[in-house]
Amino acid sequence: MKRRLRSAPDAVGAVPVRTGTGSYPVLVGLGLLERIPELLCEYAPGHRYALISDDHVASLYAESVVASCTDAGLDAGLFTFPQGEASKTRKQWSILTDALLDAGIRRDGVVVALGGGVTGDLGGFVAATYLRGIPVVQVPTSLVAMIDASVGGKTAVDVRAGKNLVGAFHPPRVVVADPLAIGTLPVHERAQGLAEAIKHGAILDSRYFDDLSEAADGLLAGDARATRAAVLRSVELKARVVTEDEHEEGFRQILNFGHTIGHAIEAASSYSVGHGMAIAAGMILEARLGERLGVTETGTSERLSRALSRFGMGAVPRLDVGIDEILGYMGVDKKARQGRARFVFLRSVGSVRGDDGWSSEAPPAEVSRVVEEALRGGA
Ligand SMILES: NC(=O)c1ccc[n+]([C@@H]2O[C@H](COP(=O)([O-])OP(=O)(O)OC[C@H]3O[C@@H](n4cnc5c(N)ncnc54)[C@H](O)[C@@H]3O)[C@@H](O)[C@H]2O)c1
Ligand SMILES: [Zn+2]
Repeated sequence: MKRRLRSAPDAVGAVPVRTGTGSYPVLVGLGLLERIPELLCEYAPGHRYALISDDHVASLYAESVVASCTDAGLDAGLFTFPQGEASKTRKQWSILTDALLDAGIRRDGVVVALGGGVTGDLGGFVAATYLRGIPVVQVPTSLVAMIDASVGGKTAVDVRAGKNLVGAFHPPRVVVADPLAIGTLPVHERAQGLAEAIKHGAILDSRYFDDLSEAADGLLAGDARATRAAVLRSVELKARVVTEDEHEEGFRQILNFGHTIGHAIEAASSYSVGHGMAIAAGMILEARLGERLGVTETGTSERLSRALSRFGMGAVPRLDVGIDEILGYMGVDKKARQGRARFVFLRSVGSVRGDDGWSSEAPPAEVSRVVEEALRGGA
């Protein structure tokens, strides 16, 4: 019999995330978008609400959310920007902050960032800086945003020197995730988020890891109940990590599993390989590196590859770049210390090695060998 992702069928799940200054809940439930006015009143009472959304999500959801807020007697306005990562800039931040100033939003205003991770990061950064900081409510509508970006309080824009390099920690008052919204998300965008979910299973919960692979078809098809269960479990796991280490000083590093090689693949491909696909390859290769170094159980990389293949991400993408270029990108990874790449190693699926810190360096020759074999098509 097929196993299902476990959870109570339709109840709203509420996962608390504790921060240095308090705590906020992540609400996960089918149909929550229709309850936004009531939830805003409950969790983020304000005089005016500035809904920030990209133009695509605006026409799908934000316009009707603003209308329902207005119907409920709230003073709500919509502020949109062009969809896509290219909008996560200081320029777009200045356009939005000027628009909020022109609209007369004051310190009793609240930003509602409704959209994917770009909206969450950009809208969150607007809220973090506007009049030295006003509250933000995160309403993630993509799987990346529900599973990853909306939890943890990180906000940022991209700059010439790299992605996410200018930003702030600005925890939301509440996160409202409605898995029904995933129904309109294209399948390749769903896969991006599911790669992060598999990462959560790989680092913390082997049962969840197996459940995800079992549920792969439904998750890729956007099945709302399977999505709800996955979002809830991923949020629980990520919340546990960020509660323990809000400002990325130690334990939070485990969320970077697969990201050292993954970021290098993304950058070396000039971002033609999506983040999910790149970190999927990163996880497979970093597990292989761990196996080579004798710190990761033999067969872990193979198990990752099998699970990821259910989501169409089981192979390392072919890249027309040299090994030096990829290694070069690892050297400039902002998480590197003293110019050397650091890796999170699994002990086995569901468990991270933390013997001497949560990440460690690896001999460059071994890193180079693993990446080179993959580039030659041996992966
Ligand atoms: N702050 C963090 O901790 C954190 C973590 C992970 C990722 N991120 C950031 O998140 C961003 C990636 O997020 P993303 O993949 O959601 O990007 P995105 O916000 O650009 O969304 C991807 C695309 O999906 C569309 N979309 C969103 N929801 C939809 C829906 N329900 N139906 C149809 N289309 C929808 C968007 O319009 C966009 O075109 C990156 O900028 C990344 O740096 C941040
Ligand atoms: Zn990631």
